[in-house]
Amino acid sequence: MKSNIQMKNSYQKLEDNFGISRAVQLKMINDLHTEMSSGLIGQKSSLRMMPSFAEPPKGNETGKYLSLDFGGTNLRIAATDLMGNGNVVEICAEKKVIDKNVQAGSKENLFDFIAESLSDFIVKNDMNNSDDKLLGFTFSFPFEQLGLTSGKLLSWTKGFSVGGVVGEDVVKLLNESIAKKGIKNIKIVSLVNDTVGALAYGRYKNSGCDMSVILGTGTNAAYIEDVSKIKKYALGENLVGKMMVNTEWGNFSKLPRTAYDKKLDEATENSGLNMMEKMVSAKYVAELVKIIFSDFVDRNIFSVKIDKQEQAASLFAAENISEVVGDNSPELKFVEKELKSLGMNGTNLKDRILFKKICDDVMERSSQIIATMIVGVVLWMDPKFDKSHVVAIDGTLYEKASGYKKSLMKNVDNLLGNNAGKIALILSKDGSGMGAAITGATRGGVSDAKISRKLSAI
Ligand code: BGC
Repeated sequence: MKSNIQMKNSYQKLEDNFGISRAVQLKMINDLHTEMSSGLIGQKSSLRMMPSFAEPPKGNETGKYLSLDFGGTNLRIAATDLMGNGNVVEICAEKKVIDKNVQAGSKENLFDFIAESLSDFIVKNDMNNSDDKLLGFTFSFPFEQLGLTSGKLLSWTKGFSVGGVVGEDVVKLLNESIAKKGIKNIKIVSLVNDTVGALAYGRYKNSGCDMSVILGTGTNAAYIEDVSKIKKYALGENLVGKMMVNTEWGNFSKLPRTAYDKKLDEATENSGLNMMEKMVSAKYVAELVKIIFSDFVDRNIFSVKIDKQEQAASLFAAENISEVVGDNSPELKFVEKELKSLGMNGTNLKDRILFKKICDDVMERSSQIIATMIVGVVLWMDPKFDKSHVVAIDGTLYEKASGYKKSLMKNVDNLLGNNAGKIALILSKDGSGMGAAITGATRGGVSDAKISRKLSAI
């Protein structure tokens, strides 16, 4: 068992490794701009900077739509009525957990699961015999958009490993399963990444919104770009106006990583990729805490040992970190409970304080990184902060983790200094799905025909 001083030193070392100084933040922003710039012109970059081929909505789009949001954890289907004037009414909605068999099964299994869920939703809500049902499809993975209603998956993230989908058009695969299932009159009118959906929804409701962030199982951001700056598909030539761009920032690689981050990455399906995502998002923060915890246990820094079997059986996840971070009881009762679930019984208050600090540090670093990235993207759009910006954020980590919203705002404002207050962060719950419907309704701007002509000319 280690002395108090050794415990303190180990903790101090962790804090030093996980802390992100202002100098590091400024360098990150610089590197972010270099990567954004290379990505937009199609040069090597850790940021894919994917054009969505959709212009930002105006807020006056109307009509009834279905939206199908395939995320990292859930599939959410909804029927929405776009009323114009920035109003969206959700008529009915349903959420299903995407289970492990679907995440790692065959492509037929995956798209049949989506089609079947859609079919059940339609039957349940008595829409079977209605005319054309316009559907916006949100697909929360990196894909290369080939038009507003077509896109090829580039790689899986967030632990998915379904065979045979990379390189395929996901709308085509979905349409095949819809046809197999015999669902009538479905017309897919848009394919969007969840960030683009969240941005479209944020913008529909608030004309000052020019960026979106997803902070859930995975992380990513989209923003509004001048079409003239998007050179990767020679799109910029004659086109003017604005387009929503999916940065795929989860893959940003210019970050100081610790030995713990490296260990976590080695154990993932997509090792070497999405380094930033693995430092911040809900799928990975709990893994990081467990890796640090095990290291501290192995080095006897806690006053007690653990039962390895109990630890292996633990379902410790982001929600549990949230409980630890939010525990302000004098004896840290919730922390004690979480430590028990990790196989550590008989802890004293110092052990609990140490574990809480580990969780606090992991979450604080997540919030600092995201704050830096948000400020970086806003500075890219508006280098002198000539105006205020609204960022629409969707995802469980932002919405539910104890203290996260507050900490993110604080970190954004700290970084902004004199410009503090010029970035507003708003929760945009389930915006990613509704945004697909809105994007389908927008249609104007860059048409599919123009895009395919440009793309085939590359
Ligand atoms: C994917 C993105 C997605 C993000 C949030 C990442 O793993 O690469 O496409 O937007 O998760 O869901």
